[in-house]
Amino acid sequence: MSQPYYITTPIYYVNDRPHIGHCYTTTVADVAARFARLLGRDTFFLTGTDEHAEKVVKTALERGKTPQEWADINAAEFQKAFDLMSIDADDFMRTSQERHKARASAYIQQLKDSGDIYLGDYEGWYDPSQEEYLTETVAKEAGYNSPVTGRPLEKRTEKNWFFRLSDYEERLLKAIEAGERGEDGGYRILPDARKNEVLGRLKQALNNVPVSRAVKEGDADWGILMPGDPEHRVYVWIEALCNYLSAVDNEREPSTADAEGGSREKYWPASVHVMAKDILWFHAVIWPAMLMALGKPLPKVIYAHAYFVAEGRKMSKSLGNFIEIDQLRAYSEWVLESEKKQAEKESREARPLGIDAVRWYLATQGPLGANDADFAHSKFVEVYNADLANGIGNCASRVGNMVDKYFEGKMPAPARKPDGVDQSRWDAVFHFPGMVNGCAGIAAHIDACAIDQALQLGGCYVTAIDQFIAQHRPFSIAKEDPSGRWSELGGGLTNAEALATILYHSAEAVRIASLLLAPALPNKMAELWRNWHCSPLKDPDDPNSGFIAPLSELATWGGPHSLKPGQKIEKGAALFMRAGPDETPPK
Ligand code: MSP
Repeated sequence: MSQPYYITTPIYYVNDRPHIGHCYTTTVADVAARFARLLGRDTFFLTGTDEHAEKVVKTALERGKTPQEWADINAAEFQKAFDLMSIDADDFMRTSQERHKARASAYIQQLKDSGDIYLGDYEGWYDPSQEEYLTETVAKEAGYNSPVTGRPLEKRTEKNWFFRLSDYEERLLKAIEAGERGEDGGYRILPDARKNEVLGRLKQALNNVPVSRAVKEGDADWGILMPGDPEHRVYVWIEALCNYLSAVDNEREPSTADAEGGSREKYWPASVHVMAKDILWFHAVIWPAMLMALGKPLPKVIYAHAYFVAEGRKMSKSLGNFIEIDQLRAYSEWVLESEKKQAEKESREARPLGIDAVRWYLATQGPLGANDADFAHSKFVEVYNADLANGIGNCASRVGNMVDKYFEGKMPAPARKPDGVDQSRWDAVFHFPGMVNGCAGIAAHIDACAIDQALQLGGCYVTAIDQFIAQHRPFSIAKEDPSGRWSELGGGLTNAEALATILYHSAEAVRIASLLLAPALPNKMAELWRNWHCSPLKDPDDPNSGFIAPLSELATWGGPHSLKPGQKIEKGAALFMRAGPDETPPK
């Protein structure tokens, strides 16, 4: 088995309702995890909720609940949202769980013992709305108001525990440089624009960071106490970061009760921590320094994407324009007019768009790199039509329909190259076997979290298949005398052989393209595979059941998993119906 792959999302504040931002990061991680599983990697994908913020105590009180009850309700909302999004996480970490609290507390104890955490005096600008201290520069720039919510900052002085971040400045710089060179012991910050920001800030003198807050009256025993100090609690950000380690530290995989082989420790260090740029500093500087102090290996990649905005405007509480989970649900439940008509004709129930269409938009149009991206209805429809309805959906149904019509729904056998035809001339016409070897590039994309490029490769295959069909016109060949000679390749094939070979190559290329699209479209591709009787899934009815072989084998032309001459290909209903120009956004 190749190297384990461990990917994480931020753990989300349990006080908020799930919105497109949370769903976006989690979908990116889900797509990357599905690619990693497809590559045959032993994969662990972690998401969860960050529950010990002071705000939780306040809101719970207002609602007549205990903090735990309030956290339970909202953590369940996140779980429901991620189920809706077809997120297949291996674990959902909640920081109020004992397994996290005990381990996080042990890490803090270790840092106290090593002297990396010490008791000192703290005076600084505190942002109560974000529960974080800001540097003098940041506070000043923001006019001593919260840069996030605009509410006033508070000057606070208190006895506090500090982490000696300043001791790690040089080692951090070296580790980032080493990571860029691909050396062990280093980590990469992606995309480059973000790395440069971090490096710029790192080169200024670093302050030690406070890692605790004073226990206040009415704090409802919420959070983790500083070991050996009942007056302080571990600052929520510091314990939250620990979740990435606590989830895999000495944890047994639920499926394996035995002591051997069932441990999750093999997953550390994480392959990728994914998040947005808002919380990069914590992940790219404070967390690696804490790990250095704990003597743990560093994560390989810190990936900080940009923001989703809504119809061109930044989403904010004051504008009230957050695209919430309900809106994403409405898109997944949207029944197009074209589908209603088609279903009526075929006397069947109309089918909604499905969540895959939403996943596709997020995964391919989202703010993966350094630039913000827009969620706009018109763009959603445009991308849906171009990539899904007119793209993979149309391509698969064209090929399926032709196999149905010309070969009674059975896969025809492709012809072999006749002796008289030059190999290079043959390969120039039937070029898919050479092209799909490109699947080898997927691993590097996934290591860099470039899911858009990995998916694009699948999209390029679809375009190539469409062009192949447009060029060789199997529907025209079908009208000719089958025993006549096909004009291409110097007449080396009969029309019947050419038709069979063109359709076989198209169908096999669709099958391979579908493997690369499946991480974003797990449900629709599972449907296609069922129709074509070529599912690579352990359980064809369960898109999360894992693959029977790694991509390198599944995508081998002429390999054991390729389409077999004579096998059944069912047309099935269209995977994605076209959205008309007059469709209005779903409510
Ligand atoms: N609890 C902390 C994270 C602790 S991780 C150890 C936190 N939580 S959060 O609920 O505010 O989530 C922030 C994250 O949500 C961002 O980093 C990003 O992953 C996601 N997003 C929130 N809004 C977003 C957009 N508008 N666009 C894209 N992603 C965004 O910070």
